[in-house]
Amino acid sequence: MRNVRTLGLLGTGVIGGGWAARALHFGINVVAADVKPEMEDWIRGAVENAEPALSRLTFAPLPPKGTLSFTTDPRVMASQADYIQENIPEQLPLKQRMLAEVSRHAAPDVIIASSTSGLTPTDLQRDMTAPERFCVAHPFNPVYLLPLVELVGGEKTVQGTIDAAATFLRYIGMHPLHVRREVPGHLTDRLQEALWREILHLVNDGIATTGELDESIIYGPGLRWAAMGTNLIYHLAGGESGMRHMLAQFGPCLKWPWTKLEAPELTETLIDRMVEGTQAQAGGRSIRELERLRDDYLVAIQQVLRQYNIGAGATLRSLEERLYQDAAAVSAGRTTAPGSTSPGSAARGSTEAGKAELGQPLRLLDTVVRPEWVDYNRHMSDFRYGQVFGDAMDALYRRVGVDEVYRGTGKGFYTVESHVKHLGEAKVGEPLYVTTHVLGLDDKRVHVFHRLHRGRDDAAIATGEQMHLHVDTGIAKASPMDSKVHAKLESIRSAHAALDRPREAGRSIGRP
Ligand SMILES: NC(=O)c1ccc[n+]([C@@H]2O[C@H](COP(=O)([O-])OP(=O)(O)OC[C@H]3O[C@@H](n4cnc5c(N)ncnc54)[C@H](O)[C@@H]3O)[C@@H](O)[C@H]2O)c1
Repeated sequence: MRNVRTLGLLGTGVIGGGWAARALHFGINVVAADVKPEMEDWIRGAVENAEPALSRLTFAPLPPKGTLSFTTDPRVMASQADYIQENIPEQLPLKQRMLAEVSRHAAPDVIIASSTSGLTPTDLQRDMTAPERFCVAHPFNPVYLLPLVELVGGEKTVQGTIDAAATFLRYIGMHPLHVRREVPGHLTDRLQEALWREILHLVNDGIATTGELDESIIYGPGLRWAAMGTNLIYHLAGGESGMRHMLAQFGPCLKWPWTKLEAPELTETLIDRMVEGTQAQAGGRSIRELERLRDDYLVAIQQVLRQYNIGAGATLRSLEERLYQDAAAVSAGRTTAPGSTSPGSAARGSTEAGKAELGQPLRLLDTVVRPEWVDYNRHMSDFRYGQVFGDAMDALYRRVGVDEVYRGTGKGFYTVESHVKHLGEAKVGEPLYVTTHVLGLDDKRVHVFHRLHRGRDDAAIATGEQMHLHVDTGIAKASPMDSKVHAKLESIRSAHAALDRPREAGRSIGRP
């Protein structure tokens, strides 16, 4: 599969907008096509609305944002894209016609995927050119925050398509779930529909309101589902003998007619009850307000789950691990491109990084002042300086072999002292880079001096001096670093010994 630099979107409604926001955020360019020219404004607005929550999902260093362009001509989109995601209305003949057209204008190694909620890939790929590169990639709303994407191949799809789609989708922070057999509704929508059908019955029969039914989920099962799903949770409910006991105890009840499989008739009365019930739940809050609330807690939940390395939190962790690796690779003058497993092409906007020689301070991090990094003065907030210097240290450590595997042994570096001096201002969108001088080293400590430069004029806008201590968390004590790590740091320190000692090094607050 080709490296994906540009994602093509066909259809830019709710789902197309979500794909655009996610891809742009993780550095992929987007060319969006929709029949309606007014959708250009809409998709730009959708990307902007997604940004506040999306930008808080992770503090890991991100590549420069992708750029968004719009066309009403699907052929233009198809000829520019490295990967195409179709998001037009859920009508089989329309999707078949448009997928066939797009496939005639896209190179044969360009994957074409459909966001369809329930149509099967064999039907969708029927009239396509090179149908083996087609699959369903079914996301969930909001696409920019929910990592799940169901991948389904049709009769003509080859395994390589599923693998390549999964690689790209992981790159933009998603969790591809391979649905091994195509069935209408894939997996998740079948489960969601079963629950919803039952809700409709309970409302129709006047047994409960929409609000009461939502309470029955959000204070109980919903909280459990977020990390363990239905089956693992039921395994726990069976006591020591787990699922076997659970089935013996509650299995017979499944034969009782608790639930109804057929959906009820959508009568006017039922529709009114559903609409009035949810309006009462909304309590006067607009859809936009509720979306913001939903987005905020979706970010918070994923950050909590990350601590336990479970579910969507595990996805976030592995995304961050890759982002830190990429930042370190960029600092060493190379990067991992989406769709390739080995470091390859030079990083965009960071070719200078590769030139960092040992005889000068190392250029460890290239970044941009993001909108959420500025305070009410419109300048970068002071805690972000700590974040940027921290990311530079992360890149230094990765360069000398302190990575996830090393930290997995319980060893790593802690910051024990730091001093930041502010010299200039950084505004939203300004490129920045950090250069780092290793001033001192012994078997447990690393003493570094960073300069944060503004990309446009190379002016130093801050300096940061730090002492890091190597710690073995198993024994909760300072401990000597691994000898290979020490040797690599020592080669940098000895090369840096020839440099002038920074004037500000060792400076304390208030000294002229
Ligand atoms: N909304 C959801 O929650 C959700 C979730 C997952 C998947 N999906 C699936 O995603 C797809 C899109 O759903 P949506 O909710 O974004 O719909 P939508 O109505 O919001 O957007 C569809 C867009 O497609 C455009 N369009 C129509 N015909 C076109 C054509 N021939 N060429 C280019 N553009 C065209 C429309 O102008 C519109 O902007 C559907 O297949 C749906 O099943 C939806």
